[in-house]
Amino acid sequence: MKVKSLCKFLLLITVLLFTMGCSGNTIGKKLIRVSNGQPASHPDNIAMEAFKKYIEDKLGDKYEVKIYPNGLLGASKNALELCQTGALEFVIASASNMETFDDIYSIFSIPYIFDNVTAYYEVMNNETRMSEIYNTTIDQGVLTVGWFDAGTRNFYTNKPIRTVEDVKGMKIRVQPSPTNIAMMDAFGAGAVPMPFSEVYTAIQNNTVDGAENNEMALTSVKHGEVVKYYNYNMHQMVPDFLVANYLFINGLDDSEKAIFREAIKIAEKVEQEEWKKQTQEAIEVSQSKMGVEFIESDVQSFKERVIPLHQQILKNNSKIKALYDYIDEMNKKYKDEV
Ligand code: GCU
Repeated sequence: MKVKSLCKFLLLITVLLFTMGCSGNTIGKKLIRVSNGQPASHPDNIAMEAFKKYIEDKLGDKYEVKIYPNGLLGASKNALELCQTGALEFVIASASNMETFDDIYSIFSIPYIFDNVTAYYEVMNNETRMSEIYNTTIDQGVLTVGWFDAGTRNFYTNKPIRTVEDVKGMKIRVQPSPTNIAMMDAFGAGAVPMPFSEVYTAIQNNTVDGAENNEMALTSVKHGEVVKYYNYNMHQMVPDFLVANYLFINGLDDSEKAIFREAIKIAEKVEQEEWKKQTQEAIEVSQSKMGVEFIESDVQSFKERVIPLHQQILKNNSKIKALYDYIDEMNKKYKDEV
């Protein structure tokens, strides 16, 4: 194990022993632990601060919320495992991470499934549709309780990507998920799955030729320092989810459940507002201070490669069909929106 990884591991063990030593209790209060892979200034984290404030205002005599940003409690995959056991109450994780729990979540990683942000929000805010997905993992000890916007994913690299031909043979970091790997294959690039926290170094030392993510990754985790081009090919809108330990949620009484539901609604709203604001800032800062050049790629060339994947994915996973058709309907309904 490298020294850096060893230090991280020891830190994780210390934090866990500490939080578990409290056995989830702090001076008579139940400690609610939230793991987040993003920095404290990221919209997801600011949203959870609003969640914390609401819960502690309403139920502060009983609960204390502690947020661990920067992946302090491990990469999303490990944090989700801790959440399954009840060592953590909440985890923020990408839809891609949830695919290994239930492949219904692969719907969110299908490239170009949403035609625009309006259709995307309409679908994500449809609680009835979402609960069909959110509750699929209860038997594994976790369930999703809310969603956060994570923008549109695009390639960022050290050479300009104008058409899909330009990514041919490039090694591109992806979030670990079968759909992401199939998508990169279809683009003709080589998918390199790895945790988010390792991407900066992997680009810097040329382990990969680039990555793909929203604009915020350029500034929040400084990927803009190690790439020259951010190429708008717009391949995915993959949301983040707030995932909870099922026994914890189920153990709340009805009035507490209502307060938690409200806190989650507030967090979603705060995140979405922060998201829009910070994305603009990220574009400005990465251009002016980091020297990143933004390129409008030929989206159609990328789309053509992956549209056949839709039918293939539907064929292999019949349970996403109803949701796929619903998304299609929303795309049609909002076709004139942005
Ligand atoms: C986005 C997303 C994170 C995810 C990351 C990644 O930043 O918000 O939840 O971990 O992408 O690519 O791993």
